[in-house]
Amino acid sequence: QCVLTGQWTNDLGSNMTIGALNEKGEFSGSYHTAVTATTNKIQISPLQGSQHSTNQNSQPTFGFTVNWRFSDSVTVFTGQCFVDEDGREILKTMWLLRSRVNSIKDDWKATMVGINVFTRLHSRE
Ligand code: BTN
Repeated sequence: QCVLTGQWTNDLGSNMTIGALNEKGEFSGSYHTAVTATTNKIQISPLQGSQHSTNQNSQPTFGFTVNWRFSDSVTVFTGQCFVDEDGREILKTMWLLRSRVNSIKDDWKATMVGINVFTRLHSRE
C-alpha cells in the first residue's frame, strides 16, 4: 500500500507535506523547494492535487499543482506512488514548470520539464 499523505523529500532536497485525502481523493499541502529558477528568496508554497480513485489502487496515480508564492511560475507534477522491493514508498514524478514571460514571442522558452523521485521524510512506524 502506497499512501500519499505525509512528508516527502526529493532528489533535489525539496520537501513537501501532503495532507489527508478527502472522499474524492483530493488533497492540499505545502512545498518547500530547495532550488529556484529565479533570484527570488524561496518561500514555502501551497499545492493542490488529486489521487486517482479506482478501487484497490495500492499504487495510485496522482497529480498536483504548486502555485509558487515567490515567483510568477506554476509547476504541475504527475506521477505514481509505488512500494519498492524493500517495502519503501516512492513517488515517481514528472513535472512541467511554467515561467511568466513578457511577450508571446518568448513563449517558446517558458516551460521546463523534468523528473523528481520522492521518498518519505519520516518513514511510517
Ligand atoms: C521558481 O523557480 O519559479 C519556482 C520554484 C521551482 C522549483 C522547481 S519545481 C520542479 C523542480 N523540483 C523541485 O523540487 N524544485 C524544482
